[in-house]
Amino acid sequence: MSKGTFLLESYGCQMNISDSEIVAAILSDQGYTQTQEVKEADIILLNTCAIRENAEQKIRWRLKELKSLDEKHNKIIGVLGCMAERLKHKFLEEEQLLDIVVGPDAYRDLPNLIKIAEEGGKGVNVFLSKEETYADIAPVRFGSNGVSAFISIMRGCDNMCTFCVVPFTRGRERSRDPYTIVEEARQAYEQGYREVTLLGQNVDSYIWAGGGLKKDIPAEKREQAITFSKLLEMVAKVAPDLRIRFSTSHPKDITDDVLRVMADYPNICKYIHLPVQSGSSAMLKKMNRGYTREWYLKKIDIIRKYLPDCGISSDIITGFCDETEDDHKQTLSLMEEVKFDFAYMFMYSERPGTPAERKFSDNVPPEVKKRRLQEVIELQQKHSAYHTSKFVGKICEVLIEGVSRKSDKDWMGRNSQNTVVVFPKGNETPGEYVKVKITSCTSTTLVGEKI
Ligand code: 5AD
Ligand code: SF4
Repeated sequence: MSKGTFLLESYGCQMNISDSEIVAAILSDQGYTQTQEVKEADIILLNTCAIRENAEQKIRWRLKELKSLDEKHNKIIGVLGCMAERLKHKFLEEEQLLDIVVGPDAYRDLPNLIKIAEEGGKGVNVFLSKEETYADIAPVRFGSNGVSAFISIMRGCDNMCTFCVVPFTRGRERSRDPYTIVEEARQAYEQGYREVTLLGQNVDSYIWAGGGLKKDIPAEKREQAITFSKLLEMVAKVAPDLRIRFSTSHPKDITDDVLRVMADYPNICKYIHLPVQSGSSAMLKKMNRGYTREWYLKKIDIIRKYLPDCGISSDIITGFCDETEDDHKQTLSLMEEVKFDFAYMFMYSERPGTPAERKFSDNVPPEVKKRRLQEVIELQQKHSAYHTSKFVGKICEVLIEGVSRKSDKDWMGRNSQNTVVVFPKGNETPGEYVKVKITSCTSTTLVGEKI
């Protein structure tokens, strides 16, 4: 018999979605049933993000909405993940309707916390762990398209970029047992998945020497440890028709070994998300990114040497502390030099508790941040269009993910470089590879015909 029905909503990054799949597995295993309907749910859980203020604002709005839907307060309402970890007990004081607050390392405690809430108490666990990687849990891929799956390979982050709240919400860096990762990829393949994305805050920093925090691994153990390039190879060998992607790479840590493995295995997608954040070395220093503009540009050259047709995308922040007009111009000129295929672009948003909040002044006026962001976005659109136009007339191998959002007469999939491709449906099925001749494009999408 079901112990109750839960609804789980994700409000963050890919890692947040992957965490929700772990939470769904923990609760299903304990006898709870999942629903997609608010009115059917006894328990509503929001998996939260803390990365920018507007991410947190979204959660506040959703909680307000839930309050009006649950006037009698007979549902249990909980928050999980990064914002829960950031605010801890304060979250309960600020949001009266909350019953449960759970940080990213405490999901196994959820059944217990739900019990406390059912008995009228408040359940809180924001303990950050040295060991937890949820290695033994087979995720319930409830939101998935049945073709591509996320696999979390590490947790936490040791980088301490000054703008970033993640080291405080997700704790210190630890890697997951590679054999459990390969096994999860194999199971996904057997279930019909044809693409896995290996997830971590900084995948190039992956290192397995038996478990525990990365910072505690002794030097002598590091030499024989399994690194990311090795892991990538192990996963690529699961099946030649299983596509491998990974995210996020760090410019200071990505190695030639990783690029060589990518070049050696056709099933490893030729796409790297390599956030630059800024084109100015002064800003990069202030952000504690661990590389300069020149280092980054050199990395791009090396990537293109190994992988001439590799798609490269980036994250860019405008208006970080003390950013001058000249710093901003350097971001634009770096973009001109690299011509990213795609970018996620943000205005700087000061986060409580980060090094930047403690040490620097958030002194670029909002209208300046906004105008700079606009300039970055416009330039990126030009570069995205440049990249998609280069595919016109060419043939791409596309993995079909499902029906196009715009028209149910078209399939939607991606090429190796992660660009979206749409083409008219025939008798294919999702999860199939097809060769598509590209006939036209927009700045984000390729349009073509199966050949
Ligand atoms: N303000 C704006 N953007 C941020 N990011 C991280 N922290 C902040 C912040 N405080 C961006 C970075 C990162 C991406 C996931 O979010 O570009 O790479
Ligand atoms: Fe993901 Fe970072 Fe947001 Fe956490 S704070 S959900 S790690 S983007």
